[in-house]
Amino acid sequence: MARQINFSATAVTSTEDKPIANGTSPQTHITKASKRSKIDYRAQALALRPQRERLPIYSARAAIVREIRKHPTVVIVGETGSGKTTQIPQYLLEAGFSQYGHTAIAVTQPRRVAATSIAKRVAEEVGTQLGARVGYTIRFEDCSSDKTQIKFCTDGLLLREILADPLLTKYSVVILDEAHERTLRTDILLGMLKDIQRTRAAQSANGSAKEGSAGALKIVVMSATLDAERFSEYFDNAPVLYVAGRQFPVTTYFTTTPQSDYLDSAHLTVLQIHTETPSTSGDILVFLSGQEDIENVERLLRESAAHFSPGVPQLLLCPIFAALPPSQQARVFEPPPEFTRKVVLATNIAETSLTITGIRHVVDAGVHKVRGFDPRVGESLLVEPISKSSARQRTGRAGREAAGFCYRLYTEADFAQLPEDSVPEIKRCHLAMVMLQLKAAGVSNVLAFDFMDRPSKRALKHALLELYALDALDDKGELTALGRWMSEFPLEPAYSKVIYASQQAGCTREVIDIVSLLSVDTLFYIPADKRDESNAAQLAFRSSDGDHLTYLNLLRAYTQANADPTWCQEHFVNRRNMRHVLDVRQQLNRLCTRLGMDINKSCGSDLDAVLKCFLSGFFHNCALLQPDGSYRSLSGSQTVHIHPASALFGKKVPAIFYDQLVFTNRLHARAVSAADPFWIAQASPKLYGRLASSVSS
Ligand code: CDP
Ligand code: MG
Repeated sequence: MARQINFSATAVTSTEDKPIANGTSPQTHITKASKRSKIDYRAQALALRPQRERLPIYSARAAIVREIRKHPTVVIVGETGSGKTTQIPQYLLEAGFSQYGHTAIAVTQPRRVAATSIAKRVAEEVGTQLGARVGYTIRFEDCSSDKTQIKFCTDGLLLREILADPLLTKYSVVILDEAHERTLRTDILLGMLKDIQRTRAAQSANGSAKEGSAGALKIVVMSATLDAERFSEYFDNAPVLYVAGRQFPVTTYFTTTPQSDYLDSAHLTVLQIHTETPSTSGDILVFLSGQEDIENVERLLRESAAHFSPGVPQLLLCPIFAALPPSQQARVFEPPPEFTRKVVLATNIAETSLTITGIRHVVDAGVHKVRGFDPRVGESLLVEPISKSSARQRTGRAGREAAGFCYRLYTEADFAQLPEDSVPEIKRCHLAMVMLQLKAAGVSNVLAFDFMDRPSKRALKHALLELYALDALDDKGELTALGRWMSEFPLEPAYSKVIYASQQAGCTREVIDIVSLLSVDTLFYIPADKRDESNAAQLAFRSSDGDHLTYLNLLRAYTQANADPTWCQEHFVNRRNMRHVLDVRQQLNRLCTRLGMDINKSCGSDLDAVLKCFLSGFFHNCALLQPDGSYRSLSGSQTVHIHPASALFGKKVPAIFYDQLVFTNRLHARAVSAADPFWIAQASPKLYGRLASSVSS
């Protein structure tokens, strides 16, 4: 081993609770069910019942149902793994809160992976086919029917449903799960649900509700952290129920020195754990910032594992992150084969929203990816240190089933410097999309919206200005016809504007392709030791106009190669993400067709039309070449560097536009293309009128 990471043992998390009795596993039922050609859902559910009854939340079942019956809103706090997400919807179903074919219980999750995997588990527990009585709906994928009684969905998806059904009449109960995460969309939902609840209560009280309408709306807010008082206050002092959890002691280690490369440290720490403890001592869960990190560590571990001496158990590497296709999620939850140790590589998705059994060792890189927004630089993705509260949640994952170990890849002194909690997303990210949704849902004065945490006036104004510049709002701040059209798309307004522009420009097919391609983090694999090789392979797709058209070339070549795995490997193409791209494209095509667009309109080889369309949405993300060879952003006069992975890296063109800024050690523009400065001026006369006249004169 090249390097050894030194950890010092420091702390043991306390635990009051006793370990749960190891009940007998109901294997016999499962075997019986799987022997039949048809799945026996009832037997499956029966088999899972003892597990359900062993969960800490089970004893609180009656009290939970009683409180929810009594109060319009209830806040429930319970340790991760206590059974909130899987059990409470079922308790409400069993207690008659949903009427078959009439009303349903919605459960929102901040992440799609959580929504789909938990729906699958709950369908098994209820004893129904996924998509029937229990289902899920996430962006670009609907696995539910009008008979669905428990529906898991992302918070963003429920927000979209409000546009079509402003009083959410389909639902008798909405459960806002993982509310402690305070995602932008959860926060907006909180405000909208509060309003919907009030309106429905008034309708029920004065009898103005139509015959057979949904009646009052119950709201359940669920959180894994203790600071639930804020939710209670926000909902007029709603009662807070605490569910005791079970936690075994976890020995926590810090590194003795700061780590310069947390990916390498994570890789080495996993190897250290694996070689120093028997694989029967439990699986390993590693927290990293995002898909790129995960795929890098996955590769490092795969290479190391190839050189294990005989007799060392193998590693089963299971990545899990938001964009992972559902077909690949299931592996994380399955037990590893014999003489194999499971290593789960996860983002903060595994912090509170997913419970993975068998974990005894946690490796915490101490970072997560957050969306940041600064009016001068626009929206950016940042890898930032986590909060103390997140660090504790991550540690807790090691002590779910027995005493465990947590290896923090940072020093104790660094831990002391971490903020207690993360800042709610609404305070730090771009608001244009949700402002557009609020407007479309009939909230005309968004400045007066009942926010639990109010974003700054500056951020709100900036979002409204962007919507105005995109022609989604008129000069009185009212939604335009275009704005309403744009709100149909589950996309940032800039993208829906680009799609709109593609109709006139006659390049809808190319634009939808590229928008789909931009929906994933990376399209290529770039192994550190094969950088030159992968660069050479990518040259085949490279367009001198930049990344947008390069990506388009890649998609065309991928389609021509019939998505062949060998072809992908030879060209360092990320297959996992390409499959996601195709899914997104299919959904966008469907939506555009429904809106009456001709999705086959193609511009052939006149690809300038495509770039101009992108500028009609991304005129905010432009930079001009300076005499000293650097690029300076038009909107904030910041120096912007072209990302090394870009087709335009090292090139000097008069102007560029980009999809996104990523802040690592400096501001990097990702997905960059060349633009004619005159096109930029044309794209938004409202913003760059002066530039237009100076360029044309
Ligand atoms: O929401 P909360 O963190 O309180 O717990 P949960 O997600 O409802 O999970 C309760 C239990 O269900 C976990 O401890 C797991 O043992 C089990 N579970 C499972 O086995 N497989 C899943 N896909 C989800 C949950
Ligand atoms: Mg949960």
